[in-house]
Amino acid sequence: MLTLRNVTKTFNRGTVNEKPALTGVNLHLAAGDFVTVIGGNGAGKSTLLNMIAGVFPLDLGTIELDGEDVSRLSEHQRAKNLGRVFQDPMRGTAADMQIVENLALARRRGEGRGLSWGTSREEREEYARQLATLDLGLESRLSSKVGLLSGGQRQALTLLMATLKKPKLLLLDEHTAALDPKTAAKVLELTGRVVEEHRLTTLMVTHNMNDAIRLGNRLIMMHEGNVIFDVSGDKKSQLRVGDLLQKFEEVSGGELANDRMLLS
Ligand SMILES: Nc1ncnc2c1ncn2[C@@H]1O[C@H](COP(=O)(O)OP(=O)(O)OP(=O)(O)O)[C@@H](O)[C@H]1O
Ligand SMILES: [Mg+2]
Repeated sequence: MLTLRNVTKTFNRGTVNEKPALTGVNLHLAAGDFVTVIGGNGAGKSTLLNMIAGVFPLDLGTIELDGEDVSRLSEHQRAKNLGRVFQDPMRGTAADMQIVENLALARRRGEGRGLSWGTSREEREEYARQLATLDLGLESRLSSKVGLLSGGQRQALTLLMATLKKPKLLLLDEHTAALDPKTAAKVLELTGRVVEEHRLTTLMVTHNMNDAIRLGNRLIMMHEGNVIFDVSGDKKSQLRVGDLLQKFEEVSGGELANDRMLLS
């Protein structure tokens, strides 16, 4: 479903601020793979997702999505095949629009202009059904402005919107990191459910090693712009936090103390 070959990105090349962010990443995801991504601060996790989404042009390498070379497509052109949820709950939804309007926007994604924005009763009922599965009481608040929702409610809604039209690939970048622990757990549980139900191919960045082990069928660890550990299936389910810590220590030596991955 996704193939990265030699994906390379250096920011501010040729300046004093030169930053190699990805150093020739090779990665292949089969359809239905749910891959959790961990790694220290600045390891290149967000850049990896951004390169797949087309936020920045590639220096080198190619990206293939579902058999199509998307390396030269714009972020906008790639968007219709991708679902994305970011750390910031404000980012995925429009605050001054109603819940139902946000959902209608997500449903019409990639269908171009000129469509009616009116929502039929059937459509509203369908949204209410979907919202009820979030178990956050949003099904009775279809006409509420999204700006009135809590961060957790907004992230849950964003996740629903990102998966309403089954994306070829779901990209989650620490999408629960800004939430309180209880809400984060709920949104994470919802994530597992949605991914499984639609069999979505997924890359989920997290700095929580327990979550990285518990969710998904495969785990990769990044360090200094590349994948340094890739484990799946039974081997992954048998992993312990201690194993990951040891791996992390092997590669990063003395840089451990301040890392969010360890602080969480
Ligand atoms: N837009 C940008 N401009 C310049 N440098 C960038 C940009 N985005 C990322 N970088 C740099 O690239 C490197 C990788 O950053 P990235 O955000 O991918 O790390 P990360 O693994 O997501 O880290 P974190 O856990 O802190 O979110 C870092 O050195 C970072 O400073
Ligand atoms: Mg990041």
